[in-house]
Amino acid sequence: MIEEMDFENRIVSPEYTYADEESELSLRPRSLDEYIGQDKAKENLSIYIKAALQRKEPLDHVLLYGPPGLGKTTLSSIIAREMGVNLRVTSGPAIEKQGDLVAILTSLNEGDVLFIDEIHRLSRNVEEILYPAMEDFSVDIILGKGPSARSIRLDVPHFTLVGATTRSGQLTAPLRDRFGVLLRLELYTPEQLAQIVTRSAGILGIEIDNDGALEIASRSRGTPRIANRLLKRVRDIAQVEFDGKITYETASAALSRFEIDELGLDDFDRKMLTTIIQNYSGGPVGLDTLAAALGEEAVTIEDVYEPYLMQLGFLNRTARGRCATKLAYEHLGINDNSVQQSLF
Ligand code: ADE
Repeated sequence: MIEEMDFENRIVSPEYTYADEESELSLRPRSLDEYIGQDKAKENLSIYIKAALQRKEPLDHVLLYGPPGLGKTTLSSIIAREMGVNLRVTSGPAIEKQGDLVAILTSLNEGDVLFIDEIHRLSRNVEEILYPAMEDFSVDIILGKGPSARSIRLDVPHFTLVGATTRSGQLTAPLRDRFGVLLRLELYTPEQLAQIVTRSAGILGIEIDNDGALEIASRSRGTPRIANRLLKRVRDIAQVEFDGKITYETASAALSRFEIDELGLDDFDRKMLTTIIQNYSGGPVGLDTLAAALGEEAVTIEDVYEPYLMQLGFLNRTARGRCATKLAYEHLGINDNSVQQSLF
């Protein structure tokens, strides 16, 4: 068993924290034109928005899926702004009862965007209210109990549901089938993240050169939320220990101090790969076994840690379990002859 790590304070966690709130609001792009990256999703969305505006109809329901921290909330507010309607934000776990959702739906205005984050966490009961609401813009509510119970149908305004989830596979089929637009968000490339870092630095009044931006970008595991967080921490170090400007040297010195390596891996990533290699001969090892060995939840490993390790080509998911690749051995400086390999 590996010692406990302080996940809450993990600087490269893509999960949203309160400390991100202020900067996310000021740094958030407000239009599709300002939004960097996700070219495929952006292009499709832009066409659907134009078409809906021309027809003077609400946009079809949109499902955004992909790893955390890639801007699903941001995209939903851009959709509302571009459609010229209000945005209402909630999340799957926040809607506990059918009545909570009915209250939200009936208070919307015609055309509004309702954003439900972590939509896969809606209870079945609540989800059942959503089906007729999405399809026929009506909800069925049951009044009373037992033999005298009766059901009445209420109309709700024509709204656009924007649902967000880390994996579309977690959604039930009836819910997934009711979305007209499915958009997959991908991890960003270092070049796209460098553009985001440069834009954010401009907004925050931070002096940074291209190499400094690229250095922060390269260590941000494909995630704008992490890039913006690292930018602010590097700024502190550049200000106190250097002349305030972020260059390659200041960025790389600061980031090494946070124990984020040149590819953006932190202690937990390295521990996860080392555990696969040293305890399970490089894999395959089942997700649950690995999660127990690391003292972390399986879903967190799957949604938060694995996408970036797979993008780097350090980890494979196979039917028999997780495997570390040759590239992972090389990066960690472990000689693969010293560990018995079952897959190479
Ligand atoms: N800030 C966070 N995400 C962004 C994006 N995709 N484009 C521009 N700025 C951002």
